[in-house]
Amino acid sequence: MDIPHIINFSKIGSQDLGYITVAETQKDTPFDIKRVYWTYYTPQDVIRGGHAHKELQQVIFAVSGTIEFNTLDLQGNKDTFILDSPSKGLYIPKLIWRDIKFSHSAVLLCLASEIYDEADYFRDFEEFKNYKK
Ligand code: TYD
Repeated sequence: MDIPHIINFSKIGSQDLGYITVAETQKDTPFDIKRVYWTYYTPQDVIRGGHAHKELQQVIFAVSGTIEFNTLDLQGNKDTFILDSPSKGLYIPKLIWRDIKFSHSAVLLCLASEIYDEADYFRDFEEFKNYKK
């Protein structure tokens, strides 16, 4: 599915022992994982994101806390996704503008399809909106 959507990952374990959730490249992600990064200590009044990617695909988790994504595609479709469980992943295909808000002490983990490349970013909203595929 080439639109942002939640992937519910399996949980191994129990309430008594705790859980493990696993993401294996290609099996649980629709791309080869080339990069992993995490963000943390974002104050609650800060909105991160504010960009889109030309090619990058991602699966993003809130491994701790709650993270809200507001997304917008080039057709003008808006959506909101709440990551409130470490077993929930958000798949974001290419060409999706996103704003991200964090609860106190939330930790975002991202599995990414490409290594970091600043040239892959749209950081200017007008440039993104006017982009013709
Ligand atoms: P950015 O992707 O804009 O973060 P966010 O969407 O969370 O606000 O990245 C923030 C800064 O970190 C920016 O200067 C680029 C740098 N960065 C890297 O150098 N490598 C990476 O893999 C990532 C994700 C960011």
